[in-house]
Amino acid sequence: MTREEVHKNILWGAATAAYQVEGATYCDGKGKNSWDEYYEKNPLGYDGNIAVDHYHHVEEDLKLFHEIGLETYRFSVSWSRIFPEGTGQMNPKGLEFYDRIVDRLNEYGIEPYLTLYHWDLPLPLLKKGGWLNKEVIEDFLAYCKLLFEHFRGRVRLWGTINEPASEVMEGYIQGTHPPQEKNNTHALQVSHHFNVASAAAIKMFRDMGMEGKIGIVLNPMPVDVLEDTKENRKARDYAYDFMSDWYISPALTGHYPKNMLEFCQKTYGAPIIDDKDYKLMEENIGDYLGVNYYMRRVVEAKDLDSDKIEEKFSFVRVPDGNYTKWGWEIYPQGLENLLKQIYNKYGKKEIIISENGIGFDDQADEDGFFEDNERISYLKQHIEVVEDLCMQGINISAYYVWSAIDLLSWTNGYQKRYGLIGVDYNTLERSIKKSGFWYRNFILGEDT
Ligand code: BG6
Repeated sequence: MTREEVHKNILWGAATAAYQVEGATYCDGKGKNSWDEYYEKNPLGYDGNIAVDHYHHVEEDLKLFHEIGLETYRFSVSWSRIFPEGTGQMNPKGLEFYDRIVDRLNEYGIEPYLTLYHWDLPLPLLKKGGWLNKEVIEDFLAYCKLLFEHFRGRVRLWGTINEPASEVMEGYIQGTHPPQEKNNTHALQVSHHFNVASAAAIKMFRDMGMEGKIGIVLNPMPVDVLEDTKENRKARDYAYDFMSDWYISPALTGHYPKNMLEFCQKTYGAPIIDDKDYKLMEENIGDYLGVNYYMRRVVEAKDLDSDKIEEKFSFVRVPDGNYTKWGWEIYPQGLENLLKQIYNKYGKKEIIISENGIGFDDQADEDGFFEDNERISYLKQHIEVVEDLCMQGINISAYYVWSAIDLLSWTNGYQKRYGLIGVDYNTLERSIKKSGFWYRNFILGEDT
């Protein structure tokens, strides 16, 4: 395929997540969720109570998405707007909000891509054990069923769970996201429950004869070493298996990487897996694999004989690497390495790049204009990789910039901006950034 053909084949879009944009935390019957409680317990100086108030600016925002030429828009539904208690009584006002989004997108000819779960768990479900409690999967399925029935024929692209690895790592290993635990055994069990939940949702989607595609969204990271030694290569393989392949393998085969599974079950006694979970996972592989890519990781060996996974390797900084203020390395080559690694191990699969973007503290000039040249450069470099990979035979069907509009960065607040559309946090006024204009021209094939 030529670059022009590849360009036409890919659906170009941008993404957000409910909690990071909506605000309106307590409006129209929404229940409390894990992140509402997190910000109450951890006074960080910001929270999601207003965010960018997308809930009240939805028409204006969707119009802007249309203006910047998006062909598709990825958003998530806030479970606690639909079921304030997580389960039981449904809240019609919650559903109405997403009706507006879906209907307006379809009117604009923007393909809606709905993520069922992007980290905001209804609080009553967290209190009953959260994702560690397998019963929560039943509640998740009841919520999925309602959305499948309701949006049948109007939404054709679905994501089950966004980045289970992040929730596992930050919520259950590092303790920096809800529920702020530091427990590897729980972490591994939760990772398994996410896989079961995703497979069960995929099964339900198919049993219900839904039109369209469904898959899980992961954030696999390629892992490199600075110094190419035998020990470092071993450390690299541990890190990749633990952070990336632990999620890729079940998503694409229904099974965990064998060595890592043996190691985890021996050391941590988890995950405990029923035989019927394997059958469910094997039989319900997604139609595509969602890949969120921001950066690679670079590691070196620490204590390879340790029985704690996190003691086997440590992260290192590349001396002449190109890093953002938040320490995220800008490394487009990593996307190529990652997708080739997946291709080499699992063969040709449909891939959606469900998030890719750069967070930095871009400032508006005195006229309120964001001249975010760094973002344009980041996007150009990564998109070039995406198109090159397609020309080499890797099947990437859609690409989403993170993010469509400035939003709340979970533990960095509002300084770290990602949007193609800027928001003035004092007035909530929106304005298309230079990157938004650039992306529109790029989608139209008029990029220079
Ligand atoms: C992804 C998440 O991991 O990274 C997004 O899916 C998140 O929700 C994005 O915003 C960027 O992370 P951060 O921490 O910079 O907001």
